[in-house]
Amino acid sequence: MAALQNVLEAAPAYFQIVGGVPPGPAEAQSLFTGLPLGKGYDDKFVWGFYSGAAMIGCADVIRGYPTPDKAVIGLLLLAEPWQRRGLGRAFATLVEQAIAGWSTIAQLRIGVALANSRALGFWQRMGYVETGEVKLAEPGQVPAAVLEKPLQRTLRA
Ligand SMILES: CC(C)(COP(=O)(O)OP(=O)(O)OC[C@H]1O[C@@H](n2cnc3c(N)ncnc32)[C@H](O)[C@@H]1OP(=O)(O)O)[C@@H](O)C(=O)NCCC(=O)NCCS
Repeated sequence: MAALQNVLEAAPAYFQIVGGVPPGPAEAQSLFTGLPLGKGYDDKFVWGFYSGAAMIGCADVIRGYPTPDKAVIGLLLLAEPWQRRGLGRAFATLVEQAIAGWSTIAQLRIGVALANSRALGFWQRMGYVETGEVKLAEPGQVPAAVLEKPLQRTLRA
């Protein structure tokens, strides 16, 4: 939890964009416990991305939401010193590969704050396409565009 909190605190620009304030002292706990309505912790996954022993990124995934065949990447984040080096692509690819292990999932889904234009560009570059849905803002947050991508399963010999 402490390592996760450190990663989140090392990405202050993201929190400024989506919430207008720096990361708070319980950001890791919120990420760990946050669940959409109707989902349980069996379908909630928080993964760390490591450089050696140091956690440098995190991803939050909900399996089977909002429909059983979709998985939502709630947040994928790298500490700022590790951004723009190709590691976001590497981490997102690993997350997609992990999701591909769930036979029920056919579609990947992500909500990106409209104000987070860099992340929008990143996800589009990763092959995600805007669905036209816009999630309305929760209190203290900004509206988010929904993007989706069919889940690729590579055949292994
Ligand atoms: C979004 C984030 C994970 C991207 O990681 P990154 O390491 O900076 O991105 P990468 O260097 O791996 O870039 C991957 C690809 O996206 C492209 N890309 C990145 N930002 C882009 C942009 N604004 N517009 C177009 N393409 C972009 C890169 O050119 C690269 O393309 P390539 O692999 O084909 O050469 C990272 O910036 C981050 O943690 N941001 C803060 C948290 C956040 O906003 N998360 C997303 C919301 S869920």
